[in-house]
Amino acid sequence: MNLERTFAIIKPDAVAAGHAGEILAAVEQAGFRIVAMRMTRLTEKQAQGFYAVHRERPFYAGLVKFMTEGPVIVMALEREDAIAKLREVMGATNPANAAEGTIRKRFAASIEHNCIHGSDAPETARQELGFFFSTAELL
Ligand code: RTP
Ligand code: MG
Repeated sequence: MNLERTFAIIKPDAVAAGHAGEILAAVEQAGFRIVAMRMTRLTEKQAQGFYAVHRERPFYAGLVKFMTEGPVIVMALEREDAIAKLREVMGATNPANAAEGTIRKRFAASIEHNCIHGSDAPETARQELGFFFSTAELL
């Protein structure tokens, strides 16, 4: 058994639309334990730093603007194979390609406004958890 942790963000579009509760319910129903959780509003610097891997991409400026336009909910989540499982439950980046029943299929409006973030690998999960949560919060 590979008990693992991953990092997730309920993005500004979903919080503003009142979908945070349903997204949390979907995450819990998929067997995740919420280890830590907080509502916050990202500064421009935080959003730039968080998505630094995409800084050369054409959508980077729009992504930073979107991620700072309202409050988000950041979460540390735990379950077996958490990283891959969360990506499965989230669905494809573009909701048009997301499988039926996935969070993005249910709540995302577009590839830009796609309601949830999930870490994509063990190294990014570790880095992203550390970006938002202290060691004490993750005990
Ligand atoms: P995320 O990092 O937010 O969990 O999303 P992801 O892995 O599914 O997708 P990624 O390639 O990492 O892209 C990060 C976020 O950038 C926005 N995006 N816009 N306009 C576009 O073509 C485009 N492509 C990506 C999305 O908000 C995506 O979630
Ligand atoms: Mg990504």
